[in-house]
Amino acid sequence: MQDKQRRPLIIANWKMNKTIMESLQFVSDLRKKFKEININGADTVIAPPFTALKAVSDSIAGEESLALASQNIFWQEKGAFTGEVSPVMLVDAGCKYVIIGHSERRQYFAETDETVNKKINAALNYNLTPVFCVGESLQQREEETTFKVIRSQIEGGLNGLSEGAVNSVVIAYEPLWAIGTGKTATPEQAEEVHGFIRAILRETYGSGTSETVRILYGGSVTPENINNLINKPDIDGALVGGASLNVDSFVKIVSGSI
Ligand code: PGA
Repeated sequence: MQDKQRRPLIIANWKMNKTIMESLQFVSDLRKKFKEININGADTVIAPPFTALKAVSDSIAGEESLALASQNIFWQEKGAFTGEVSPVMLVDAGCKYVIIGHSERRQYFAETDETVNKKINAALNYNLTPVFCVGESLQQREEETTFKVIRSQIEGGLNGLSEGAVNSVVIAYEPLWAIGTGKTATPEQAEEVHGFIRAILRETYGSGTSETVRILYGGSVTPENINNLINKPDIDGALVGGASLNVDSFVKIVSGSI
């Protein structure tokens, strides 16, 4: 469908949803559906809550097309950090990816560009692929500070990283006004910011990196809008919340991205 060099990547961000049983049921239904379509053209990742990570990991073992992500990480390896989960533990549970700096973490749990930067470094040190989230609020968009906000989030989050390290990062652009609202950014609005992010990568790390890094769009992605989004030159996949909770709609999004 598209001739991009970057492989499409679709991530199901379940947020604080699904018990272990519900997660396993989803994976079992998903595997059945995946047999019906050619899903080898995309990378598919599931980010269940922490409690279901190991069970989902065991149930997707051996599936090349499916990988596991956590929704958060802490940067220390171990110690007196009540309630936190370390990179070592995530690797131990079978994770390959980790979502970092989601706007809900920034908004409700006081994450900052500095903590996001520490988490990205920690993930990379343990060979976990960071899915680094950025995005502007509605007010910032209306005040026309979107580019300024995105630039400072990107520069803050990637601060101090080498070119090689940045090549291993996935970036997710998620405008806050589009998350869980049913109000998707138009493909043009999304592409404008994706292109801007790629230009920052080019000016900072060179064209090798800017052509390598996958930039996902997130915010009310559905089976109906995935196609128009992924057809844009700088949109390489999606971080999907609400529509990833249902197997049918998630499978349609994956097949629509290929
Ligand atoms: P949504 O969430 O698809 O429900 O808008 C996306 C996200 O927050 O990652």
